[in-house]
Amino acid sequence: MVKKTKSPVTYTKMKGIVSYFAALIKERKFGSADLLQKLGTSHPIYRHMDAECFLRPEGSSVCDEAGAAALCFSSTAQELQMSRASAADFDYLKVIGTGSFGKVLLARHRENDRYYAVKVLKKQMILKKNAEGHVICERSVLLKTVNHPFLVRLHFSFQTRDRLYLVLDYASGGELFYHLQRERVFTESRARFYAAEMASALGYLHSLHIVYRDLKPENILLDSAGHVVLTDFGLCKEGIVGRATTRTFCGTPEYLAPEVLQQREYDRTVDWWGLGAVLHEMLYGLPPFYSADRMVMLSNIMFQPLVLKAGVSKAGRDLLKRLLNRDRAKRLGAKHDVAELQHHSFFSSIRWDDLVAKKIQPPFVPSLSGPDDLTNIDPAFTNLPVPQSLGVCEDAGMTFPGFSYMS
Ligand code: ADE
Repeated sequence: MVKKTKSPVTYTKMKGIVSYFAALIKERKFGSADLLQKLGTSHPIYRHMDAECFLRPEGSSVCDEAGAAALCFSSTAQELQMSRASAADFDYLKVIGTGSFGKVLLARHRENDRYYAVKVLKKQMILKKNAEGHVICERSVLLKTVNHPFLVRLHFSFQTRDRLYLVLDYASGGELFYHLQRERVFTESRARFYAAEMASALGYLHSLHIVYRDLKPENILLDSAGHVVLTDFGLCKEGIVGRATTRTFCGTPEYLAPEVLQQREYDRTVDWWGLGAVLHEMLYGLPPFYSADRMVMLSNIMFQPLVLKAGVSKAGRDLLKRLLNRDRAKRLGAKHDVAELQHHSFFSSIRWDDLVAKKIQPPFVPSLSGPDDLTNIDPAFTNLPVPQSLGVCEDAGMTFPGFSYMS
């Protein structure tokens, strides 16, 4: 049985929990047992529901009668508030996305009737693929990035015996590239708007020393008004400060910077390459260096000179050339990050303060009949069956062994 704390958990405390947790992980010295021993059930961090939920030692229970305990982040008040949620609090309506560790489902909260995108991750899959770090990272980033209009928000997180749940904003406009596929290319002003919103979100992440790393079509969503929502922080890298670099290889090859493909050191400028690749696809209909043969494309990314055909303005081509510079030290954004993009002539019509305040009218408003409209979601997802067991919260059993384990 879970003993729940009654003490309020403020956002500041929560940040403390995350930082503490992140620091331990960063040390990479601990196995799960060590980590949990270090935290100890008496440690103030452990006493908070959130840490309890995710750091539970093996053999102890995950759910109480009410279901798995969790935290709720509501930013309606200045101070973030917390409350509890469980798998049983939602009706799971449709599959709206899939990934290697599980699915994303449209769900309705039974009490407040609001719609959410619930990312359900199978513990078994995560363990099998040694991806505990990705999950910890995703959740940690979601907890930190509560404050940007173009980043998906985490509302609740909890776990059952077999699964981890992240309850996120539902971006009902669907994947940006779902729309791009249908239209082949976007007009330059539409591409500019999306690129500017993405740049703003990436600049914000960088200001928190987080490298997104995984800017790719399926992670760029639209909300109901047509604004960008970046989702999926599973491959983010935290703690990259200034010119610090890392070497971990991850991500989708088409949009990866050459230094990542070659497993050379890289830094936050990989995100500016990624933005260049996405902008190229919006303007030309294909990613840069494209070839139907994947190996050829990988080789092109690393060695082929960038050829930009006419049909895109001089400013657009110049921006692409600068973002897709193989020399990351010379890439746009290398010195002053997003500020360098903001000053580029391609974005001269963008008022950045208005953009972040969502005062710029999106160039395309998804047609939606209501908050549960699925017309912008790929039927390849919505036709998949919804697992029946999602709302079932087992009352005890095996927890997520080694969730906090970093080898
Ligand atoms: N697919 C993945 N995450 C999503 C979200 N937050 N909203 C809509 N579709 C998604």
